Amino acid sequence: MSKRSAMLTLAAIALDPSSGVPLYRQLYEILRRAILERKLRAGTRLPSTRALAQELSVSRMTVINAFDQLLAEGYIEGKAGSGTFITASLPDHLLRVRAKVTHVARAPARRRAVSERGRLLAATASSFIKDESQARAFQPGLPSISDFPFDIWMRMTSKRWRHCASEMAGYGHAAGYRPLREAIASYVQLARGGRCEPEQIIIVAGSQQGLDLAARVLLDPGDTAWIEDPAYRGACGALLGAGARLVPVPVDEQGLDVAAGESLCGEARVAYVTPSYQFPLGVTMSLSRRLALLDWAVRCGAWIIEDDYDSEYRYTGRPLAALQGLDKEDRVIYVGTFSKVLFPSLRLGYLVVPADLIDVFSAAQAHTACYSPLINQAVLADFLTEGHFARHLRRMRRLYEERQSVLVQCAARELGQRLEIKPARAGMHLIGWLPGDASDQAVSRRAAEVGVDVRPLSFYCLNVKHRGGLLLGYTGIPVAEIQRGVEKLATVLRAG
Ligand SMILES: Cc1ncc(COP(=O)(O)O)c(C=O)c1O
Repeated sequence: MSKRSAMLTLAAIALDPSSGVPLYRQLYEILRRAILERKLRAGTRLPSTRALAQELSVSRMTVINAFDQLLAEGYIEGKAGSGTFITASLPDHLLRVRAKVTHVARAPARRRAVSERGRLLAATASSFIKDESQARAFQPGLPSISDFPFDIWMRMTSKRWRHCASEMAGYGHAAGYRPLREAIASYVQLARGGRCEPEQIIIVAGSQQGLDLAARVLLDPGDTAWIEDPAYRGACGALLGAGARLVPVPVDEQGLDVAAGESLCGEARVAYVTPSYQFPLGVTMSLSRRLALLDWAVRCGAWIIEDDYDSEYRYTGRPLAALQGLDKEDRVIYVGTFSKVLFPSLRLGYLVVPADLIDVFSAAQAHTACYSPLINQAVLADFLTEGHFARHLRRMRRLYEERQSVLVQCAARELGQRLEIKPARAGMHLIGWLPGDASDQAVSRRAAEVGVDVRPLSFYCLNVKHRGGLLLGYTGIPVAEIQRGVEKLATVLRAG
């Protein structure tokens, strides 16, 4: 391209003095784009700053500033005595690629070289892939955000910044803020019957990160892992992410069927369980099953990952202590979270690991650098030790018990035989059972069309076939919303 044709290209430039963007910046952007799109080719000589300023009716300083920026970024080069050129060494094929990338396009049709694990993860549906921040009836697993004492939390946060900003602004220890680890250790001992010292607590960014960490520390690619069937999808993702081969083990009214697991694959390295309130069926693992699971783990040298995600919510009777508390042989990695009692975006959870695994878990966590901000860890430590946590939990238990009973009553009145819902002594959701062989996926789709979020039970089933069921979360949904949601669901089921 000659200097003259470059001038012709540049003469078409239209600058807009009223746009609020400085003229030199506009000129820089236009020239940069022209270079990237190969309208101005490598090696082309540019007109002098004086000639271009005249052509565009702008000051020469405007052109000089634009050229200076392009020069600094390597788009053009100056040759003493002979003028300014589009940089000759810009590889043509790279420019073509750059020029095309104007937005991040999704390209589902193209198969690029991601790992087998990457592909498996993408194929493993997660309910968190969409924005879940606006609670809708009957989204499961959400606490009542509007009832959280944010005023207290904010006061405690600003007090911490005021009094120990430099401590709060550092990296901190990979295993977490020591006073929080101490507070959690006494909570786990007192409230969950766990056996632990503060050193065994590893703070993680929510239980999902804890599951991911545990899976990567405990499993080698190709190892087998028992997973409850139906299963929490997040656990499937964490195990698959570590390269594990999943062995779905059926769950009955006593929890994970240990004997079935042994006959499917006795030599598994890991078993993932939710003994307090199985997700999603809501059964509590019986004592005999707990003992059988521990016995299997000891015999086979396997690890048990106990996900105690909503153990705080037991409305009647005394909670069964955590499985970890029964473990005399240190085979259990306990996973706890504050997402369900405080709020999910806090991303704060913890692991209780056997004493001989403290160093390896701490080191692995250091490599992830997935630390929850120290300020939140410190405020949570204060929240626990000053009694706010226990008070908030008591209030939420009463509130959720009431919400559950509103859901059960409304459902009995409006849905009758169309959806069978029984009250539960614990948890954050109920299962509504559909009659006969009705498809839970079809009902769920039709409910979504009228703004009701009822997850089909089949979404969580790996190998087992269950009667159609819908998950109905109630804890994060105000009573009026529960009533409206049930009415909408009734119209969907009646139209059935
Ligand atoms: C069984 C189970 N485990 C873990 C989690 C994740 O909790 P977190 O927010 O701590 O990652 C959930 C979330 O719904 C869950 O249902």
